[in-house]
Amino acid sequence: MVESLLDDGWTVRCVDNLSTGQRKNVELFENRPGYSFHRMDINDLEALLPVMRGAQCVFHLAALADIVPSIDNPLTYHRANVDGTICVLEAARAAGVQRFVYAASSSCYGIPDVYPTPETAPIRAEYPYALTKYVGEQYVLHWGKVYGMSVISVRLLNVYGPRARTTGTYGAVFGVFLAQKLAGKPLTIVGDGTQTRDFTYVTDAVSALIAAARSGIVGDVFNIGSGGTYPVKALAELIGGPMTYIPKRPGEPDCTFADIRKIRERIGWRPRISFEDGVRMVLKHIEDWQDAPVWTPESIADATRSWFKYLGKEPASGKP
Ligand SMILES: NC(=O)c1ccc[n+]([C@@H]2O[C@H](COP(=O)([O-])OP(=O)(O)OC[C@H]3O[C@@H](n4cnc5c(N)ncnc54)[C@H](O)[C@@H]3O)[C@@H](O)[C@H]2O)c1
Repeated sequence: MVESLLDDGWTVRCVDNLSTGQRKNVELFENRPGYSFHRMDINDLEALLPVMRGAQCVFHLAALADIVPSIDNPLTYHRANVDGTICVLEAARAAGVQRFVYAASSSCYGIPDVYPTPETAPIRAEYPYALTKYVGEQYVLHWGKVYGMSVISVRLLNVYGPRARTTGTYGAVFGVFLAQKLAGKPLTIVGDGTQTRDFTYVTDAVSALIAAARSGIVGDVFNIGSGGTYPVKALAELIGGPMTYIPKRPGEPDCTFADIRKIRERIGWRPRISFEDGVRMVLKHIEDWQDAPVWTPESIADATRSWFKYLGKEPASGKP
């Protein structure tokens, strides 16, 4: 996001508390004119205000974005993703920022009935991360309605690319596979690997957020995606190397596939990077995953214990 905006000639003030982000990513642009980095928590309204002053547009991407920790620490997720969003909204409102773009998540659809999944699909958050991102979106739209702010929300899904988060948390399949590949370990396929994901390359996600900002559309929500959906096993085959199989998890859809007709038709955005090209580009940057944890079937079983415990059970009936 920062790189694209700087390339387009914008002045960029980047805010991050580096709780899960990497210092080397924000330091990359230190010598670029127009760039400044502000290490602060988005819940610190006093600190945010001077950074917002004079800004034309806010792209709100800061969030805690892993599934398992959100099940273990829902309050922490609420504070970062819901309270944090309100704080960014309030700072933007106080500073009179003209445009507010929210990076929402298609995880709000849970396990949808319809593929490709449109924006009108029922909301069925399956875990606290998904819920907090959806509640954050509701706040953004509400600030548009009540305070007249020019807000728009873009629901991302399965974004991948260089410089992605490589925290110690078990998470997105790309990072898991790339670290395993670097370490010469087998790639851990969940289930039989026929489940498919709408893998969206990072520059496509960024161009969608910028296109949304430039559009005059206010108070609306748009899916973005790659325009297709690809089996996890096909990803493993493109990355290459031995494979091993681990149990399928509750609460995870067999398919993610966004219906992107709305953003195509109303904003004129479309994805440009094919799955095969995206994987090739990521493999060129595989060294980014040098320090990422290398997961094994045993450590994954350990890390996903609460996932199985909480998402795998029937809801309580209330009967003794
Ligand atoms: N990557 C995806 O597939 C995907 C899918 C759907 C939605 N999104 C959303 O897009 C956004 C960016 O995702 P990403 O994959 O680049 O995640 P990321 O973890 O790489 O980036 C999020 C950044 O937010 C920062 N952050 C967290 N809490 C903060 C706080 N309280 N104050 C300041 N900074 C804080 C982290 O340090 C991190 O650098 C997130 O809002 C995420 O929910 C991403």
